[in-house]
Amino acid sequence: MKKNNIAIIGTSAGDESKAAITHHFSPNFEYVVRFGGSLNAGHTLYHKGQKIIRRMVPSVDFSHSHTKAFLGSGMVIDLNFLLEESQSIDNMFPGAAKRIIVDPEAFVILPQHIEEDKENVKKWGSTGKGVGPAYRDKIDRKGIRVESFIKDNAEIIQTLSKLGVQFKYSLELKQSFEISNTIFEGAQAMLLDISHGTYPYVTCGEAGLAGIINSGFAFAMPAKVYGISKCYTTRVGEGPFPTELHGEAATKLRERGGEYGAVTKRPRRVGWLDLPALEYACEKAGITHLVVSKLDILNGMKRIPVCMNYDKDLVSSKDFFTAKPNLKEIPGWVDAHQVEQILPFIREIEQFTHRTVELMSCGIEPKDIIKL
Ligand code: IMP
Repeated sequence: MKKNNIAIIGTSAGDESKAAITHHFSPNFEYVVRFGGSLNAGHTLYHKGQKIIRRMVPSVDFSHSHTKAFLGSGMVIDLNFLLEESQSIDNMFPGAAKRIIVDPEAFVILPQHIEEDKENVKKWGSTGKGVGPAYRDKIDRKGIRVESFIKDNAEIIQTLSKLGVQFKYSLELKQSFEISNTIFEGAQAMLLDISHGTYPYVTCGEAGLAGIINSGFAFAMPAKVYGISKCYTTRVGEGPFPTELHGEAATKLRERGGEYGAVTKRPRRVGWLDLPALEYACEKAGITHLVVSKLDILNGMKRIPVCMNYDKDLVSSKDFFTAKPNLKEIPGWVDAHQVEQILPFIREIEQFTHRTVELMSCGIEPKDIIKL
């Protein structure tokens, strides 16, 4: 375990503000590693008020010239999209493409994977980017690694290299990782995790610590693992959602929170914070600390419903499909920036999960990420 390394993990069904937190921490780190997923992720961050969506490249703040982005071997990579994304990063931060490094052991998404994934969009709300079929081929021992494209000196590799993008194995950089501090940025979240999520309504990558090991980073495991949770819950696509709201209440919360998919623009399903689900994610992912985000969205609500338990014990992901939530109302706040106002809510989360909430976010400016 490496003392100063940290991980940023989603605790629910994605879109918890992982990117904003990674972006906030990244100037103090030399590497930000993505260890799973692909362009199905829509990581939203803000730079000087400008909204940026990262899909495959980690949420590095490239305005700080010492931080590098590493795309780990647990990812499946769409090389054409990577070129687009790297170009756009390099336009915004000239020279930044040189700080994007791809592990040649990562597998690639091929055009046939994207074609095949169209079916899954209808079937369970997949983002349709070829992620599932590419992971399937990997497991089925038919996958193709980035290193094959390098060996064949493919045109796309030449173009990426010309732009500055580097290709290096994690072990080639072991010494550098050992003397550096690293953030491991998760993609998606524990309820979408292939092993511990609400199967089959999941993505195909790993959202927790297992993904870091499987990307070849057992030598740099993070000592601190942050679980990121919104102060309410959202989900895109199909799958169980015990605290889901419907009708007017859902529309109101969705509008307040601007809850539309970053990748597909679909309206997100919305509901209240679910503490049993949060604790489940903490236990399954190895989370040590929590961050609660988007608290400003609930400004002005006198009382905030939170799920305190289900009508049964939660011991398996299948329990999410039939669980009936019991909600309790917790005193709300007028202005989340006044930290003392949100403390009753935060304490409820801490008591339930036995984890400290170390940070909270209540807006898109750097000053809106507040240490508690
Ligand atoms: P896939 O990973 O594109 O196959 O999608 C599988 C499920 O995960 C679908 O319900 C998607 O909407 C959901 N999903 C995948 N990536 C994300 C993400 O980054 N945020 C939220 N949901 C996601």
